[in-house]
Amino acid sequence: MTPQDYEYLRKFLKERSGLDLSADKQYLVESRLVPLARKANLAGIPELVQKMKSGAEALTVEVVEAMTTNETFFFRDKIPFDHLKEAVLPALVQARAARRSLRIWCAASSTGQEPYSIAMCLKEAGPMLAGWRTEIVATDLSQEVLEKSKAGIYSQFEVQRGLPIQMLVKYFTQNGELWQLKSEIRGMVQHRQLNLLQDFSHLGTFDIVFCRNVLIYFDQDTTANIFGRMARMLEPDGVLALGAAESVVGITNAFKPYPDRRGLYCPSAAPAIVRPGIATLVPSAPRSVASAR
Ligand SMILES: C[S@@+](CC[C@H](N)C(=O)[O-])C[C@H]1O[C@@H](n2cnc3c(N)ncnc32)[C@H](O)[C@@H]1O
Repeated sequence: MTPQDYEYLRKFLKERSGLDLSADKQYLVESRLVPLARKANLAGIPELVQKMKSGAEALTVEVVEAMTTNETFFFRDKIPFDHLKEAVLPALVQARAARRSLRIWCAASSTGQEPYSIAMCLKEAGPMLAGWRTEIVATDLSQEVLEKSKAGIYSQFEVQRGLPIQMLVKYFTQNGELWQLKSEIRGMVQHRQLNLLQDFSHLGTFDIVFCRNVLIYFDQDTTANIFGRMARMLEPDGVLALGAAESVVGITNAFKPYPDRRGLYCPSAAPAIVRPGIATLVPSAPRSVASAR
């Protein structure tokens, strides 16, 4: 790959998916795109780039898909799901007692392990949510991962990563080497293709947003822009969950962290949400950011 080809691909990927590749990631691009070039009967990356420049739209979609990292597993990092069960759901159930509905957005849902972990948490909440209307909207840039997610079929390896055995037995059906989620859980999740770089206000307002392990691939301005738009879609007392390596601190003033609830954030204008005796979610004071984004 020539330096010009690499620059072309870097710019293309940043514009199309937000992926921010540093100058030294040629090996990554080669490891993902050489197999794609071969599959398309092209000699290598220079020919792939030529074809992209000539306007081969289907190929450009495949390039974007090949460069996304779809790593995920059930109950990833565990802590956000403990917070969900122990603090967020009890607090929001109290706050939404009149409305009896909850909307949750899983904003980079990959092959479904994250939205289905959320669905299992809601199911396990049992009587607390009995008679409630709960919606989980799972979105991702990649159509390929969404198709896998919709099917809800996982390998032995995938169900062994993070999923407690009781949940496997309770919510999955075994079919040879594969495990399929029962329709009672699959039916709780709606899937939509969505690029976080584009407008997402049409999704409506949410009580909880999980946006984990995707913003780490974007640059700071892109991340700040997404946070700003997300804050407008969260209820004032709603909760944003980020990945273990992600934070709003130093990037945006639109959210502030909850102390003692690592990975959880609320819109800056949020009131304290208090659930006496069960959980207290009190946001910390907003931190200043050099430039308000
Ligand atoms: C590493 S996975 C994270 C999955 C899950 N949230 C988790 O934490 O386990 C990142 C996902 O973000 C998706 N993604 C990448 N760029 C995106 C974009 N611009 N808009 C929406 N999704 C994107 C990828 O397709 C991939 O499925």
